[in-house]
Amino acid sequence: AALLAEDQDLLGRKVMITAGGTQEPLDPVRFLSNHSSGKMGYALARIAAARGAEVTLISAPSNLTKPKGVERIDVRTAAEMAEAVFKYKEGQDVIIMAAAVADYRPKEFSNTKIKKKDGDLLIELERTEDILARLGKERGNEILVGFAAESDNLLENAQSKLKRKKANLIVANDIGAKDTGFAADDNQVVIIGNDTQINLPKADKLEIAMGILDEVVKLLN
Ligand code: CTP
Ligand code: CA
Repeated sequence: AALLAEDQDLLGRKVMITAGGTQEPLDPVRFLSNHSSGKMGYALARIAAARGAEVTLISAPSNLTKPKGVERIDVRTAAEMAEAVFKYKEGQDVIIMAAAVADYRPKEFSNTKIKKKDGDLLIELERTEDILARLGKERGNEILVGFAAESDNLLENAQSKLKRKKANLIVANDIGAKDTGFAADDNQVVIIGNDTQINLPKADKLEIAMGILDEVVKLLN
């Protein structure tokens, strides 16, 4: 019912949202990934669409169902996500990087399954591209929102990400907090802007999405 009561305050706006955790393949049967469930990004997509936005959801593998009225683009790796983001970037009013993008990927992909041997295995990793940082570098007028998952020094780390990536807002999330974060339904975040800091109360991810989009709408207007 709360959703139906929302104003159509994103009507006519184009919003791109990334979600989920990327997968970086090592061989045909293995990959590196993380605990992201995609729930936060999918909640943002659902609420943005309900508030009237034309939503493009760039999704890393996730079991979640596509929210109604949202265009979903499926990707797997950080490189595929980057390609999709820059393909659909044109004309977006808002870009929200809710995805947990891998920072590193295996330097080499083995076409055949890596067989076990005696002793240890070393896997060489290389950096992926920082999508949000590149969006910040090449920015137009769009509102850029990033996330910061931190286990310590939440505010300092989030503030430095805001500046480093030239984002308008960073949604900072304490991954150590109880019953919140990755797979949980609830989340507790602090929204940090250039001269704002909003502590949202712990709530359902749909409600957190509403709070984040409230701040986005303020910046758009
Ligand atoms: N991000 C991105 N591309 C990457 C890594 C991260 O676009 N290759 C985005 C995330 O989607 C998020 C923001 O950058 O919106 C911050 O991600 P986070 O992992 O918290 O920060 P990093 O800059 O990767 O730094 P670190 O993991 O070392 O804290
Ligand atoms: Ca990272």
